[in-house]
Amino acid sequence: MSDIKTLIIVAVSRNGVIGRDGDMPWRLSTDLKRFKALSMGKPLVMGRKTFESVGSKPLPGRPHVIVSRTATLHMPGVETAATVEEGLRRARALAGETGVDAICVVGGGEIYRQTLALADELHVTHVETDLDGDTHFPDIDPEMFELVEEMSIPAGEKDNYATRYAIYRRRTGR
Ligand SMILES: NC(=O)c1ccc[n+]([C@@H]2O[C@H](COP(=O)([O-])OP(=O)(O)OC[C@H]3O[C@@H](n4cnc5c(N)ncnc54)[C@H](OP(=O)(O)O)[C@@H]3O)[C@@H](O)[C@H]2O)c1
Repeated sequence: MSDIKTLIIVAVSRNGVIGRDGDMPWRLSTDLKRFKALSMGKPLVMGRKTFESVGSKPLPGRPHVIVSRTATLHMPGVETAATVEEGLRRARALAGETGVDAICVVGGGEIYRQTLALADELHVTHVETDLDGDTHFPDIDPEMFELVEEMSIPAGEKDNYATRYAIYRRRTGR
């Protein structure tokens, strides 16, 4: 069994929205800083549409594995994988090579849906509002994931909303 954990990192509104028109429907500077600190150095797995939503440029300091049935990317630090399973495998291999203990699945909706059942930990920023959107995160099954940490974060100057950062861990034996 692998010692490398699979983390899902997501920001989700009360009504399950994570995206609208190819972007996130909020600005949350405090959360972006936390995302950066948590993911730094760890391989990221993301869908082709999410990669496009961040400008088709890799985030510094983190190897990227982009899942796409069609795209092939030629840029330093970015690989493509033709299936989600291959993407996770490749990210784990990269983590093994660099000696980090986790990989991060960072969206979007299609990729979250296909990886939720495989994740060890969910790092969820609950955005304290209901919003319209076209991309959603699946419901978190409390029988499968246990809430292990929770912190309320008031909206800072550069945040649209207050948030609640929660960590869920897969219950053992599942
Ligand atoms: N709130 C958050 O935390 C958060 C995080 C990330 C993204 N988002 C938002 O989520 C939205 C994007 O999500 P999305 O669901 O539209 O797209 P996505 O999951 O980012 O990417 C979908 C693409 O991934 C590829 N793909 C999916 N399943 C595959 C499989 N089994 N095998 C091979 N390739 C596969 C396909 O690429 P090809 O079409 O190239 O084959 C598909 O079109 C945006 O609005 C973004 O801002 C929000």
